[in-house]
Amino acid sequence: MRGPELSPRLKMVGELVPAGARLADVGTDHAYLPAALILEGKIPWAIAADLRQGPLDRARATVREYGLTGKVAFRLCDGLSGIRPDEVDAVAVAGMGGETIAAILSAAPWTRERDLPLILQPMSSFPDLREWLQKNGFSIQEEGLAREGDTIYTAMLVRAGEMSPLTPAELWAGKNTADPLRGDWLDRWLARVRRAIDGMSRARGEGTSARKRELEEVVDGLADMKKEWEQWQK
Ligand SMILES: C[S@@+](CC[C@H](N)C(=O)[O-])C[C@H]1O[C@@H](n2cnc3c(N)ncnc32)[C@H](O)[C@@H]1O
Repeated sequence: MRGPELSPRLKMVGELVPAGARLADVGTDHAYLPAALILEGKIPWAIAADLRQGPLDRARATVREYGLTGKVAFRLCDGLSGIRPDEVDAVAVAGMGGETIAAILSAAPWTRERDLPLILQPMSSFPDLREWLQKNGFSIQEEGLAREGDTIYTAMLVRAGEMSPLTPAELWAGKNTADPLRGDWLDRWLARVRRAIDGMSRARGEGTSARKRELEEVVDGLADMKKEWEQWQK
């Protein structure tokens, strides 16, 4: 049977999931990700977990619809609190704010101790999440980009371990890659950070000017990354 058609964003998340892994999909909502990966034969089994009953009911409906009963377990829980470390080989947390993702990992230290592949797809607070990962013994191994309409999304494959310190611009936009969407992604961050600086230029105060200097450093770094990316395109 064909699985649910994944959006480009969820497809990117699925591509970062290691083949053969028992996957915990935290904040699963419709359970489209585990259903599609099981039906395409990439993973054998998954746990669909969600904080709320409504999304978990939708997950059960998807699993019934695609005949996957017994291949997906359900957990009504906050983050990973209802999942034992020995049950899974990889964890996906997609479609949530970066701060929520950091809070979920922080509450489950076994995600670092077990050196588990973590597939994270933040919707906001990108610098905060990357900084938290860096400070808490995680290493970002790979980042992908996907476009849906006007929006570009990012997803990252993270594992326990040291990574070379990220520059201020890398905290915002991730490390440079030759991804064809990378140029657009950097342009968006440049525009966003420049708008924030413009807003600060109209405000006053010592705290504001320190923050403004930090953001100017981010803009310089993003502009350098854009030049580097353009060189790669030639
Ligand atoms: C926008 S949906 C994302 C669904 C799917 N992962 C995706 O990327 O398309 C976010 C889901 O995360 C769930 N959620 C939010 N905070 C959570 C938490 N702390 N633990 C587990 N699930 C959570 C919400 O109930 C919701 O179903």
